[in-house]
Amino acid sequence: MSQNNSSTTAEHRESDQLITTDPGRGGLDDRDGHGGRQPRECVIESKDLDVFYGDTQALQSVSLEIPKNRVTAMIGPSGCGKSTFLRCINRMNDLVDVARIDGDLYFGETNVYESDVDPVALRRRIGMVFQHPNPFPKSIYDNVAYGLRIQGKTESLDEAVERSLKRAALWDEVKDQLDASALNLSGGQQQRLCIARAIAADPQVLLMDEPASALDPIATSKIEDLIEELAQDYTVVIVTHNMQQAARISDKTAVFLTGGELVEFDDTNTIFEDPEHDRVEDYITGKFG
Ligand SMILES: Nc1ncnc2c1ncn2[C@@H]1O[C@H](COP(=O)(O)OP(=O)(O)OP(=O)(O)O)[C@@H](O)[C@H]1O
Ligand SMILES: [Mg+2]
Repeated sequence: MSQNNSSTTAEHRESDQLITTDPGRGGLDDRDGHGGRQPRECVIESKDLDVFYGDTQALQSVSLEIPKNRVTAMIGPSGCGKSTFLRCINRMNDLVDVARIDGDLYFGETNVYESDVDPVALRRRIGMVFQHPNPFPKSIYDNVAYGLRIQGKTESLDEAVERSLKRAALWDEVKDQLDASALNLSGGQQQRLCIARAIAADPQVLLMDEPASALDPIATSKIEDLIEELAQDYTVVIVTHNMQQAARISDKTAVFLTGGELVEFDDTNTIFEDPEHDRVEDYITGKFG
């Protein structure tokens, strides 16, 4: 999707809010003074990203650019670092004591590992959905309203909850039971509720770590339709073990292989039809992995 200047400007303004201290010194608005970074169509960029858990290296010098308002899939065998990469984007790895990160990771113009970036504010801009749906033991309404209440955004809460549930393609199924416990929903409904909860905070990016792997084929297909729909307004990064799913719903695919190496990153059609590396072809065709 092409970007116009106004959306780029809006992105800078929103990214500004991530800086908690001394916003005047460098960072977002100092594109000439700190590395000459220019506005771009990619929303997230990693440069030579290394991640270690103690002595184990989980990612090796990963560089890639994730395009705005597209679906980017991360595929590769178990343990190759897909979840690790996803967790770097919104600094969830900060919560892992032994994790150490080298290299750069940009969200818009902001290096998210600068000391003045507030990880909580970052996670509001970059939401996350996990493999197993994790609704809070609260009502459907309270789950979706949760983040907005924390932010003090209680005006028009009903409208915001309705809008998010509609956006997550769940409204019709739950509109008459908003006060019922979220834990009574089916797994597929719970996952869409978690997506509604994530988008209620109005993020720019949605990170999804195998969001459909615990669901049956019908629920999976609903989540896939939803992801394609969401990509009109959000940048989606999805980890999946399901090759057909990656091929169906993503625009770009990153292939990680054992040892945390990003072997190939390209348009999804190219990855699945004419990959550059034999190792990628072998993985995709099931010869190893
Ligand atoms: N919290 C942690 N502490 C120590 N090592 C970890 C931690 N999390 C991940 N690792 C290690 O980092 C490597 C990459 O793990 P990661 O979970 O990112 O892989 P993955 O590609 O998501 O795998 P899967 O497909 O099984 O989910 C693995 O060797 C794993 O054991
Ligand atoms: Mg994983």
